[in-house]
Amino acid sequence: MSSPPWSQELLKKSDLITPMAIRVAATLGLSDHMAAGAATIDTLAHEADVDPVALDRLLGHLVNAGIYRPLPEGGYEPTELGALLRDDVPGSGRDWLRLDGPTGRGEVAVFRLLDAVRSGTPVYSGLYGKEFWEDVESDGALAQAFARRMAASMRWVVPELLAQGDWQSVRHVVDVGGGSGDLLSAVVGHIPGATGTLLDLEAPAAAAERDFAAAGLQERCRAVVGSFFDPLPAGGDVYLLANVLLNWPDERAEDILRRCAEAVSPGGRVMVLEGLLDLQTDQTDLDLRMLVYLGGRMRTTEQLRELAANASLSLRRVVALGPVRSLAEFETA
Ligand SMILES: C[S@@+](CC[C@H](N)C(=O)[O-])C[C@H]1O[C@@H](n2cnc3c(N)ncnc32)[C@H](O)[C@@H]1O
Repeated sequence: MSSPPWSQELLKKSDLITPMAIRVAATLGLSDHMAAGAATIDTLAHEADVDPVALDRLLGHLVNAGIYRPLPEGGYEPTELGALLRDDVPGSGRDWLRLDGPTGRGEVAVFRLLDAVRSGTPVYSGLYGKEFWEDVESDGALAQAFARRMAASMRWVVPELLAQGDWQSVRHVVDVGGGSGDLLSAVVGHIPGATGTLLDLEAPAAAAERDFAAAGLQERCRAVVGSFFDPLPAGGDVYLLANVLLNWPDERAEDILRRCAEAVSPGGRVMVLEGLLDLQTDQTDLDLRMLVYLGGRMRTTEQLRELAANASLSLRRVVALGPVRSLAEFETA
C-alpha cells in the first residue's frame, strides 16, 4: 500500500540517508578517485579501502540522488553535481561535507539535536570530549580547513562591506577571531597606508600570517595569538567581528563586545558581520547548528542591539549584505 502524499513529503523532508550518503562519498573521496581513473566498483573499493558490495549499494543510491551516473561499459562517473565533491575544483564542497572535517564532525552532532533541545545546551563536547573550538584547534588540519572554508564563504561579502563607505580615514583595523587572513587583507589592502592586526587561536593565527605574506601585506598586517575574552590589542579605529558572536551564548558574546568597546579608539567603530534573524530570515538552520555545535545562537537586530548596549556600545546602523550576512555597526556609547 503506498503512503498518502502528505506522508511522502514529510519523509522526503526528514530523509537522513541521502545527506549522509553524499557525505560518505565526500569523506571517501569517490569523485577524486573517479577523476584519477577509477571507475569500476573493484578499483574504487580498493582505492577507498571499503567493502565493494556496500560501495555498490552506496553508489546505487547516489545515482538516484543525481550525484553519479553509470557508464555504459560499467562503473560510474560523477555528474556535474558529483564533480563538486572533488578536492581540486573551484567551488568544491568536499572540505565542508567530509565527515572527518570540522563541519562534518559538527553535523554528526546534529543527530543529538533532541538532547540539545531538551537541555538548551550544546552536544558537541558530549560526542567528541572537547568543546568545538578546542577540538578544531587541537588539529591544525581541521583548523585550516575550517578557516579556508569560512574565507571562501565570506569572499563575496567583502566587496559589499567595502562599498559601505567611510574606510579612507581608517588607520588601523583589528580583526577579532579573524580566522584566515583573507578579510583583513582585503580591508587593509583597500585603504592606502592602513595597518591591521588579526587575533585568533594559535593555528588560525599562524595560517593568517601566511595569508598576509601571500597578499604581500606582511609589512602592514600581523596576527597575534590570544583570546577575545582577554583584553584586545588596543587603538584600532575598526574592530571586525565576522561570524564570531553567533558562536557564543549571550553572556559570552557580551564579554567579547565589551572587550572591543574597551579597546576601540575614541570615535572608532565595532563592526559585527553575521546573519541576523530578522534580515536573513531563512538562516534558522544555522541558528540550530550554533545550538548543537557551540551553545551559540543567531540574533535579531534588536537582540544584538541590547547585548551591545550592555557592553557600552550603541548601534549606528544595520545593513543587509546579501541574503546570508548583515553589517551591524556600533560606536562607544
Ligand atoms: C566562525 S569562525 C570566523 C572566522 C572569521 N572571522 C571569518 O569570518 O571567516 C570563528 C573564529 O573564532 C576563533 N576563536 C574561537 N575561540 C576563540 C577565542 N577564545 N579567542 C579568539 N578567537 C577564537 C576561531 O578560531 C575561529 O577562527
